[in-house]
Amino acid sequence: MIDDIRAARDAALAQVDAAESLESVTALDTRLLGKKGQLANLKKQLGTLASINEKKAAGQAVNEAMDAVGVALDTRRAVLGSAALDARVLAERIDLTEHVGRPTRGHAHLVTQAWERLEDVFVGLGFRVAEGPEVETDWHNFEALNMGEGHPARGEFDTLFVDYAPEGGESGHTLLRTHTSPVQIRTMLEQDPPIYIVAPGRVFRRDTPDATHMPVFHQIEGLVVDRNITMAHLAGTIEAFTKAFFGSGWSSRLRPSYFPFTEPSAEFDIQRPDGSWLELGGCGMVHPNVLRAGGIDPEQWSGFAFGFGIDRMAVMRHQVGDIRDMFTNDIRFLEQF
Ligand code: PHE
Repeated sequence: MIDDIRAARDAALAQVDAAESLESVTALDTRLLGKKGQLANLKKQLGTLASINEKKAAGQAVNEAMDAVGVALDTRRAVLGSAALDARVLAERIDLTEHVGRPTRGHAHLVTQAWERLEDVFVGLGFRVAEGPEVETDWHNFEALNMGEGHPARGEFDTLFVDYAPEGGESGHTLLRTHTSPVQIRTMLEQDPPIYIVAPGRVFRRDTPDATHMPVFHQIEGLVVDRNITMAHLAGTIEAFTKAFFGSGWSSRLRPSYFPFTEPSAEFDIQRPDGSWLELGGCGMVHPNVLRAGGIDPEQWSGFAFGFGIDRMAVMRHQVGDIRDMFTNDIRFLEQF
């Protein structure tokens, strides 16, 4: 009898050891320790034994066997359970290395980098950095820049007007500045010539975003007012800037154009070392009406101004295909610069 019990126990332990899943452990539990199991059967046969001592020894052996099988089932269940958990964790793991795997130092946005380098280059040429508000009056943005009532650039199709009326006044005269040129006026009203300033900043136009337009973008304005300033100073400054910013292999040219606030006016282009031309911005001699609006006597002083898009320039410099990429903040784009 004792031998039968040991054999049944060993067979049961071997089966438990061989179980490969939690389900099979559960099935074995019922089969080995249940009422119809081999050990239960042996227990029922205890009554057939002759002596009390034999019954006692065999009963103890059956109980010990059942305990051993129970412990083995629990152990096996724990082992398989943690393996199943490991497998699940592995299967459900999200690869975060793209986001946190490589701790890297952040850096300034491409536009900010260009903005700061432009400031550096112009400060190196003797200019001071000036600022003006992004929300402007129509007087500073248009009127003082020789764009009177009825000028097409003032149309609400081009301009974002702000719903604001000053105390005692009417609305419709406050807008998001459409260019950095109003800083020319603010600077002239603030300081006497000689004036040598650049004014980088954010500007706004009613444009639908596409590969080359954004309703919000950045410009840098330049203004010089001094005695006997001529177009040659303008051309020389643009040329010096081009070489300092882009490199000695680059050069520039002026092409006749029109702006209400400069006379004569020009577009300026820069030439890549491979000989191809890029259109960069507008410039010209400050119109006498603009000097007068700024409280400066055009008989005594003359000056030049220029303005160009910072984002456009960065796009050209780095051959970015779509200007919208500059503002979607996709880390894969930003990381490249
Ligand atoms: N303000 C002009 C623009 O936004 C650029 C410009 C600035 C032209 C200064 C001439 C002089 O297009």
